[in-house]
Amino acid sequence: MTARALITGVVGQDGSYLAEHLLSKGYIVRGITRRASYPHTQRIDHLFAMYDDRDPECPFRVTYADLTDSSSLQNVLLDFQPTEVYNLAAQSHVGISFDTGESTLDINAIGPFRLLDSIRRVCGPDVRFYQASSSEMFGASPPPQSELTPFLPQSPYGAAKAAAYYLTRMHRVAYGMFAANGILFNHESPRRGLNFVTRKITYTIARIIAGDVDRIELGNLDAKRDWGFSGDYVDAIWRILQHTEADDFVVATGETHTVREFVAHAFSILGLDWEDFVSVTDRFKRPAEVPALLGDASKARRLLGWQPKVGFAELCQMMLESDLAARGHTLDEARVQAKSLRPSVPRVRRK
Ligand code: GDD
Repeated sequence: MTARALITGVVGQDGSYLAEHLLSKGYIVRGITRRASYPHTQRIDHLFAMYDDRDPECPFRVTYADLTDSSSLQNVLLDFQPTEVYNLAAQSHVGISFDTGESTLDINAIGPFRLLDSIRRVCGPDVRFYQASSSEMFGASPPPQSELTPFLPQSPYGAAKAAAYYLTRMHRVAYGMFAANGILFNHESPRRGLNFVTRKITYTIARIIAGDVDRIELGNLDAKRDWGFSGDYVDAIWRILQHTEADDFVVATGETHTVREFVAHAFSILGLDWEDFVSVTDRFKRPAEVPALLGDASKARRLLGWQPKVGFAELCQMMLESDLAARGHTLDEARVQAKSLRPSVPRVRRK
């Protein structure tokens, strides 16, 4: 029987890479997305162009449904009859969750409950369910963090993800469902949203080179993150659902860097000193911070045979090159252009 995957959050970074990954394995893929007044399908437009969805055999389709609307979830489950469900949809910005706590809890905690409950009622226990859990759940727990590390969430986002993690386990234990958690540490790519720190940095450097802006404003530079490549992580996600039994897995590189190191490295690729172009503002600091994340993914390595391919420096350069290319610059051209830039952040303003 052909595998049939339902992906929530298919228009997001991970959703788009996962859809590509599953289509390349011969899956029939159905994505769901919320209605938006402005098109937000840029990350999957190349897939729409590859397949003709007027064809009844078309392996890739996207329909409207919403994690805050159980009836829409039940309709798509009834219609599509998936064999695997990947729940990637979320309000994914930790900082914004402090401003939108209630809706973040609704989408990120009650949303997975609605989906699990709908799968149980509509499809039964044979459907395999993946929950996008997050290293943000570890919060203040010191590194390294593994599947055995206690959760100490520091944000509405982290608390909501922890609730969803436990609800996923609960469906496994109480109803015998194949319900698994991937506890993914930060993962980035050229498709990363513009308000996450890595992409904000590479995108703004490309704008500095183009002469559109003269600096980057950032918040806490001391936070440490274990940054991997989203394209590598979707393979771990898929492997989690192919495992013999439902289980919970940390997915991480095992290497950690501060935000300062990321921004310094990105500028250094162009021969620039980051301190000439970065100012720090309280505007981008959070009411509570997760100080240090460093994942121990030895269980995923051992049981799933998964390991990341792209390292920190390669990831940073990949993202910068992509943002420069979108503005018509090669890396070499940008390096030449960088030589003519004057520092824009006077030393006295540096904190
Ligand atoms: N976004 C942002 N913008 N973060 C900044 C900035 C800034 O201007 N300046 C400093 N930071 C710091 C944040 O305070 C945080 O410590 C770190 O950079 C990373 O921030 P994000 O890139 O926004 O990611 P995150 O770690 O909060 O959350 C991401 O990773 C989680 C996994 O741990 C998101 O992808 C979550 O959805 C994901 O679950």
